[in-house]
Amino acid sequence: MADFSKITSDFLNKIKDSSSLEDLLVVETSLLGRNGIINTLLKDLRTIPSEKRKEFGQSVNSLKKILASSLEERKQILMRTDDKTGYEDITLPGEKYPRGSIHLISMAVEEIGRIFEKIGFIRVSYPEVEYEFFSFESLNMPKTHAARDDFETTFIDAPEHPKYGKMLLTPHTSSGQIREMWRTKTPPIRMINMAKTYRPNWDATHTPMFFQFEGLCVDRNINITHLKGTLDYFVKEYFGRDIQARLRPHHFQFTEPSFEVDVTCTVCKGTSKIDGQKCRVCKSGWLELGGTGMVHPNVLTAGNIDPDKYSGWAFGFGIERVIMMKYGIDDIRNYYTGDVRFLEQF
Ligand code: PHE
Repeated sequence: MADFSKITSDFLNKIKDSSSLEDLLVVETSLLGRNGIINTLLKDLRTIPSEKRKEFGQSVNSLKKILASSLEERKQILMRTDDKTGYEDITLPGEKYPRGSIHLISMAVEEIGRIFEKIGFIRVSYPEVEYEFFSFESLNMPKTHAARDDFETTFIDAPEHPKYGKMLLTPHTSSGQIREMWRTKTPPIRMINMAKTYRPNWDATHTPMFFQFEGLCVDRNINITHLKGTLDYFVKEYFGRDIQARLRPHHFQFTEPSFEVDVTCTVCKGTSKIDGQKCRVCKSGWLELGGTGMVHPNVLTAGNIDPDKYSGWAFGFGIERVIMMKYGIDDIRNYYTGDVRFLEQF
């Protein structure tokens, strides 16, 4: 009786090895042609004892099916590549080009923007090459102030402005606070400013250019409860219902009182344990999000807003950081190397 598996593998090899449509046609004829192997086998059917005939017939059929489909597949490939034929089948489906996608930073910018737009915040954009005045002086950080060192600012080689000083790459989005106060003139202000910011650091958690989003709310009788309520709303919308925010006292020149915001660790969900082991991402069940506080009266004054009539709060968070916390990404440099294997996952 015929060795079906040997016939199958021999033919599959022949099909695979045919490098032109011409070669393939020879294989096809020896397989499906009048004197091809399939017909020969079917002729043999008569000589097979009747109790084996059914099984034999089925084997021939399945052999034919497998080899015919492999033939067809090879034919499609050769039709595209075997240019000797000069033949192109324009009815074949086209080749799909890999599709690009929106970068995950842009996706986060849109997502964060939508979250704040829902509660009446307006998205603005202000210069990323800015004067010292907007980044520092107006934010209660005079030239001599040590806090300016924290930002290790990148200055631009450009003439100094008589009033606003040197030009720099914005080390934080807080420069947008004064710009927005000047633009709106009278509160209410509900601003969300998302922009590139620059500090000369380069390691696993810092890139020299990164993104921040800055919230600013100024109106009559604004107090910390409004700040806390907004932060709670944001973290639940962005990270999930089970995530909470807490305020920890801190210091910034442009807010008083000032806080750092922590959110429930998104990895261990605040339990600080994973499978009985200490969570590797956080120490205490909390992760640090960024800075916030009530706008300092000097800042309102610099923005031509009367601090006796109005009060406000502000916060500034890193966009790469919130994405990192949301998806558990451990190296911020992934965002900018342009490796599609990383980017495709979002
Ligand atoms: N600008 C601060 C920073 O980049 C964050 C901040 C913004 C703090 C607004 C308080 C209020 O570190």
